[in-house]
Amino acid sequence: MNTLISQIEQDFKSELSKIQDLKDAESLKVKYLGKKGLISDLMPRLKDAAPEERKSLGALINQLKTIVEEDVRVLFQTFLEIEQQKALEQERIDVTLPGRKKTLGKAHPIHTFLEQMIDTFRQLGFTVAYGPDVDSDYYNFEGLNYPSDHPARDMQDTFYVDPKNLLRSHTSNTQLRIMEHSKPPIRVVIPGTVYRNENISARSHVFFHQVEGLYIDKNVSYGDLIATLKEFWNRLFKKQIKTRFRPSFFPFVEPGLEMDIECSVCSGSGCRICKHTGWLEVLGGGMVHPEVLRNGGLDPEEYSGFAFGMGIERMAMLFYGVTDIRAFAENDIRFLKKF
Ligand code: DAH
Repeated sequence: MNTLISQIEQDFKSELSKIQDLKDAESLKVKYLGKKGLISDLMPRLKDAAPEERKSLGALINQLKTIVEEDVRVLFQTFLEIEQQKALEQERIDVTLPGRKKTLGKAHPIHTFLEQMIDTFRQLGFTVAYGPDVDSDYYNFEGLNYPSDHPARDMQDTFYVDPKNLLRSHTSNTQLRIMEHSKPPIRVVIPGTVYRNENISARSHVFFHQVEGLYIDKNVSYGDLIATLKEFWNRLFKKQIKTRFRPSFFPFVEPGLEMDIECSVCSGSGCRICKHTGWLEVLGGGMVHPEVLRNGGLDPEEYSGFAFGMGIERMAMLFYGVTDIRAFAENDIRFLKKF
C-alpha cells in the first residue's frame, strides 16, 4: 500500500510536468481527484491493510490528496493567468493606428439636381405637389386628349397594370387631379417617377424622373409661359441663358412648344454633347388645351393656363456629362461618389 501511494505521487508529478494546456489539466484533475480517480480509489483499499497501519496509511493518503489538490489548484491558476494575458494582448488598442474614416451617405445626384430645380421654381412662386405612380388610363391619357389610337397608349409603350390602370408614362397625369382639387390661381410643380416600356440602353430606361409645371389663372398668356421658362433657366444657372422655342405638338396643350437652351458645355459653339448644334432640347410645354381645362372642371372662357414638363435624367446627363442613363439607376458607389 505504501509503495502504491508513493507510486501514485511519482506518476502524478511526472504527468504534471508534461501538462500543456487547460484540457490536459482537466483530465489530470479527473484522473487523480475525480470521484473514481486514483486517490479516491485508495480509501476503500485501507480495509485490506493491517489494522495497526490503517491510521498512518490514511494520513498518508490525505497528505497525498492535499499535495495533489494544491498542485492542481496552482496549475489551473497558471493557465487562467495565461488565458487572461492572451485576451489582454488581443484586445490591446494600438493608439498609433490611424483612425477609421466614417463614410457619410449623401443625396443621389438626381435628387440633388431635382432639389435645385424645385428651389428655383419656389422662387418663382410655385408650390410642390405629388401624384400617383399607378394611375388610371383616364388621368394619364383619356382626360388629356390622347386619342384612343395614340401610340403611347399601346402596351408596347406603356406598362399596364390591368386594362384600365397603368404606371404613369408622364407626370402630366397629375394635372387633372390638381385642377379637380383646387381653385385658380394654380401654380404647382409636380416631380415624380415615370415609366415607359422601352428597351434599356445608354439613352433610355424603363423608369426615369420628370418635373411637370402647371400655371392656371385668369388671363395667363403665352408670353407668361415664355417669360417663366426663360426666368427659370437664368435662375437655375445664375446667368443669362440663350433660349429658343420651336412649335411642337402634345395633345393636352394648344399651341405646344419645345424649348432649347444654349449648350451649357460649349456655350453654343458646338460640341459632342449638343451634337454640334449649339442647342440642348430641355422641355415640352404649351397652353393648356380648353378641353383639358373643362375635364378639370374649369371654364376655359374664364381661365387659361400653361403647362410644361421636363426629364430630369436627360438634363442631369447633360449638365454632369454622364453618358449612360443606366448609371443613375444602378447605384454603383464609385459613380455616386463622383458627385
Ligand atoms: N408629358 C410630356 C412628355 O412626357 C412632356 C410635356 C409636354 C409636358 C408638354 C407638358 C406639356 O406639361 O405641356 O413627353
